[in-house]
Amino acid sequence: MLKMKTGLQRAFLAVIVAVGTLWSMTLVAQDAASLYKAKCAACHGADGKGDTPVGKKLGLRDFSSPEVQKMSDAELTTIIADGKEKMPSYKKSLKPEQIKDLTAYIRDLGSKK
Ligand code: HEC
Repeated sequence: MLKMKTGLQRAFLAVIVAVGTLWSMTLVAQDAASLYKAKCAACHGADGKGDTPVGKKLGLRDFSSPEVQKMSDAELTTIIADGKEKMPSYKKSLKPEQIKDLTAYIRDLGSKK
C-alpha cells in the first residue's frame, strides 16, 4: 500500500514537472513575442522585415537578410543591449535573459521567409 502510494506520488510529480516545463517554455516564447511586439515591431515590423514607415526611413535591414543572419548571437545580443546608431539601447529596460530570448526570437523570425 505504502509502495503504491509513493509510485503514484512519483508519477504525479513527474506530471507536475512536465507540465511546469512546458508551461514555462510557452511563457518564454510568449514573452519574447510580446516584448518584440511592444518594443521592437514599431521599427522592425511584426515580421522583422523592417517594412514600416520608421523602418524605411532608417533604412532597416530585414532580419532574414544574409547581413543579419551572418551576425553571431553575441553580436545581435550586443546590438540589442548597447544599441547602434539609431537602434536604441535596451540594457537598462530589459533583463539579460529577455535580450537573449529576443535574440532567439529574431533568429526565428529571420529564418522564416
Ligand atoms: C527606433 C527604432 C528601433 C527600435 C524601436 C528598435 N530598433 Fe533595432 N535597429 C534599429 C536600427 C536603425 C538598426 C540598424 C542599426 C545600424 O546598423 O545602423 C537596428 C538594428 C537592430 C539589430 C541588428 C541587425 C541589423 O539589422 O543591423 C537587431 C538585432 C535589432 N535592431 C533588434 C531590435 C530589438 C530586439 C528591438 C526591441 C527590443 C529593437 N531592435 C528595437 C532601429 C530600432
